[in-house]
Amino acid sequence: MFFRRPRSWEIKESQVTPKASYVNRRQILAAAGIGVGAIASAPLLPKLASAQEVDPSASLYPVTNNGSFTAGEGRVLTPEDTATTYTNYYEFGSSKNIWRKAQDLPIRPWTVVLDGMVEQEQTLDIDALLAEAPLEERIYRHRCVEAWSMVVPWSGFPLSWLVNKAKPLSGAKYLRIETFEDSKVAVGQRQTWYPWPYVEGVTIDEAANDLAFMVTGIYGKPLPKQNGAPLRLALPWKYGFKSIKGIVRISFTDVRPVSFWEEINASEYGFWANVNPEIPHKRWSQATERDIGTDKRIPTQIYNGYGDQVADIYKNVTDRRLWS
Ligand code: MTE
Repeated sequence: MFFRRPRSWEIKESQVTPKASYVNRRQILAAAGIGVGAIASAPLLPKLASAQEVDPSASLYPVTNNGSFTAGEGRVLTPEDTATTYTNYYEFGSSKNIWRKAQDLPIRPWTVVLDGMVEQEQTLDIDALLAEAPLEERIYRHRCVEAWSMVVPWSGFPLSWLVNKAKPLSGAKYLRIETFEDSKVAVGQRQTWYPWPYVEGVTIDEAANDLAFMVTGIYGKPLPKQNGAPLRLALPWKYGFKSIKGIVRISFTDVRPVSFWEEINASEYGFWANVNPEIPHKRWSQATERDIGTDKRIPTQIYNGYGDQVADIYKNVTDRRLWS
């Protein structure tokens, strides 16, 4: 059965080797006669560069930085090259090194449906949405359940802005968010033991929190495909698997959605998935994390350090687990 299949998440913490993918890449580049000094330069990511050149939203970036959101004490921005080549996107395979495969995904035309318990269903064209949305840049810490982390400058707009646009009915309690499905280009979706499409969910209160951010860009440019273009979520107080990529539908509902990983293994990947260093994953500790930019192991903070902004959401939530 599909949920018995080992995933990259199902490894011991000691085996989580975040640098492996780009170390390998360096070895490949070295073997090809390309020096390490050249790695940071754009020509080494030709497919990425050309993908960005043709992205019709390119002229929107960079957007104004919102200085309220910073890397935090002792943290530094993860190099762009690392954050855009070490990615989790199971639609393109279970390795971190899927960025080349992700270039096959067509991201225009692209529409996002807002439906379910709303005044009126809407289908939004991504470029019309981008033209209207209050775009800004925010620097967020990004903590994966696999015990690695990054610091990323995302561009995008508050999820609450989109919720207001959707005009949910008063009975709507949750957002069920869905990724595209296209196994012709997304080779991972041919693995039928996974419950495609990727689905995530948040409560209306979580969606209303100012930290909940719809991402359309990164490092002052349009979002690369491997990071979830043209639209993904960033929920920095939760484990990264909640930050769903390649969004095509947001449905408002009064039924708590079952997310992709929860359906596969609910005892390890719960609905709430708020970062908590004191609750270990079944197979590794969550007390520390490896910052993959600096390769340093650092203590993990409750709510990934965003407790002041989000702890209130959960003050009346007593009957459910708040952690994965
Ligand atoms: N969204 C989709 N559709 N498919 C995925 O496999 N992986 C999740 C999340 N969003 C995933 C996804 C996981 S496990 C993490 S940690 C983050 O994306 C990784 O985001 P990044 O690759 O941009 O760092």
